[in-house]
Amino acid sequence: MKLILLGAPGAGKGTQGIIISDKYSIPIISTGDMLRAAIREGTELGLHAKSLIDKGALVPDAVIMAMLKERLQKSDCSNGFILDGVPRTINQAEALAEITEIDKVLEIHVPDEFIIDRITNRIVCPKCGASYNAVSKRPREEGICDRCGSKLEARADDNKETLLERLSVYHKMTEPLKDFYADQGKLVVIDGTESVDDVTVKVLETLRG
Ligand code: AP5
Repeated sequence: MKLILLGAPGAGKGTQGIIISDKYSIPIISTGDMLRAAIREGTELGLHAKSLIDKGALVPDAVIMAMLKERLQKSDCSNGFILDGVPRTINQAEALAEITEIDKVLEIHVPDEFIIDRITNRIVCPKCGASYNAVSKRPREEGICDRCGSKLEARADDNKETLLERLSVYHKMTEPLKDFYADQGKLVVIDGTESVDDVTVKVLETLRG
């Protein structure tokens, strides 16, 4: 299965993506996580990306697609993969179509007014990408990732000002992908405003169907 998860920042792409990844034994590929790893490693890419991510802007398409192309060539992608946060522009979607054919695009739809609380209460695992929430999804042990035992942290771009810019960029640059994939008969939209468990039920039903 080659799946794209589409949705606004904080819609629950990473949360549901990890569940799908565990269930189907296919990797979740998050360009956001890859960029944050490059920032931690202090690479040239990381330095360039940090200035853009911190203000909620997109990293250039060519940089993202070079990084993604290399990742998709790894052997763990041979039975499929889940793309989280990519493609994010029509240019990226067109470039992706040159590399591989996607089976399904799942939009987790959450209106903007739900997002601010989710994002400002989020803590993430820098190692495996798992996402937690001080209100709706607490880790079993305070500050520690349930999946890999790493120390959880807040993301630098999870503040209100940057989030408003990320939402604006999403509506302008990424939402047009809905029509792009609907025209190909690949888009399925699910309501992401319910609890994590209820959204998971719908996601798994959709993937079985
Ligand atoms: P990225 O890391 O991709 O961030 P994003 O798209 O803004 O998405 P998020 O990770 O914030 O949200 P999510 O949908 O995964 O939500 P989550 O499951 O964690 O990108 C960051 C930056 O990198 C971009 O701004 C850009 O600069 C750059 N970048 C990345 N990819 C790029 C690309 N392709 N092109 C150009 N630039 C790129 O959930 C959020 C919170 O809500 C959590 O606390 C979670 O526990 C909680 N939650 C989840 N589901 C529910 C629920 N159903 N009910 C209640 N709470 C819930």
